[in-house]
Amino acid sequence: AGPSIPYTPLSDACGIVEEVGEDVKGLRPGDRVCSTFFPTWQSGRLAPEKLSMLGASELGVGQQHFLLPQSALARPPDFLTDIQAATLPCAALTAWRAVLDGTGLLPGETILLQGTGGVSIFALQFAVAAGLRAIVTSSSDEKLERAKALGATDGINYRSKPDWAAEALQLTSGKGVDLVVEVGGAGTLAQSIRAVRLEGTISLVGMLAGGTQPLDVRTIYMKNVIVRGITVGSLEMFQRMCKAISAHNIEPVVCKVFPWREARSAFEALKQGGHIGKIVLDFTT
Ligand SMILES: NC(=O)c1ccc[n+]([C@@H]2O[C@H](COP(=O)([O-])OP(=O)(O)OC[C@H]3O[C@@H](n4cnc5c(N)ncnc54)[C@H](OP(=O)(O)O)[C@@H]3O)[C@@H](O)[C@H]2O)c1
Repeated sequence: AGPSIPYTPLSDACGIVEEVGEDVKGLRPGDRVCSTFFPTWQSGRLAPEKLSMLGASELGVGQQHFLLPQSALARPPDFLTDIQAATLPCAALTAWRAVLDGTGLLPGETILLQGTGGVSIFALQFAVAAGLRAIVTSSSDEKLERAKALGATDGINYRSKPDWAAEALQLTSGKGVDLVVEVGGAGTLAQSIRAVRLEGTISLVGMLAGGTQPLDVRTIYMKNVIVRGITVGSLEMFQRMCKAISAHNIEPVVCKVFPWREARSAFEALKQGGHIGKIVLDFTT
């Protein structure tokens, strides 16, 4: 079931602090901040008391003015535009954690990214910065070319080559990739398990190809695969990610910016999937 209406959607924002409460330290009017996805997950492990989520369990940030606790705010890298910074809290942090935070991947290892949406393109940019070999799948040859221009080493069209796991195995001399960022979910998981190496990792973040499907679990344990569920990340992870973004001058790929009054068209465009990277709503126009 969807959220009860009226509801304010969206989980990522960048904006300017207008006023601060008496107890706020280290933030002033005029400062530029991003919202964080989990306002109460500052650091350490996820725990039941840290589960509130902006734009999911709580009202989201799709508004011109809003009030947030200081714990729900973080500073984005200075060199990014407001539009670019607005893409960081959810998709970028999910990709950061899926690829680099706690995965132990080493330069030269191979990662497979599904599709060219917001999470996957950030994952590609982080993989390239970390010296990983990145194989990207997409339904479009044109998007695969864009991914290669961003540093992908190989592309597989999952429409013309529906057995993309076989292609990934071939590209890795039969060994399999070290990590898959799984945005497809149940509909693609069986192929991801085939595509990954023995003791490889699947960072499970999405379910664009469905949430439920029968699965032969022997394929997981026979290959000693680690399936790692991921929901975004903590403030501490966001700060680590921003350091890497600054060090490597990573500019988020923003496909299109819509004025907020055209939010409906923005959601339609997202649904149609013609984009690469992120779609942003501008609340200043
Ligand atoms: N767990 C978390 O913390 C978290 C955070 C953010 C997002 N998510 C979830 O992660 C998923 C991706 O989010 P997003 O923001 O990147 O979405 P998005 O920008 O809408 O990504 C859409 C793209 O995914 C690709 N795709 C769709 N079905 C696919 C399939 N069967 N196999 C391979 N690629 C497929 C397509 O790429 P091509 O056009 O190139 O084919 C499509 O354009 C969503 O399910 C979202 O809800 C989870």
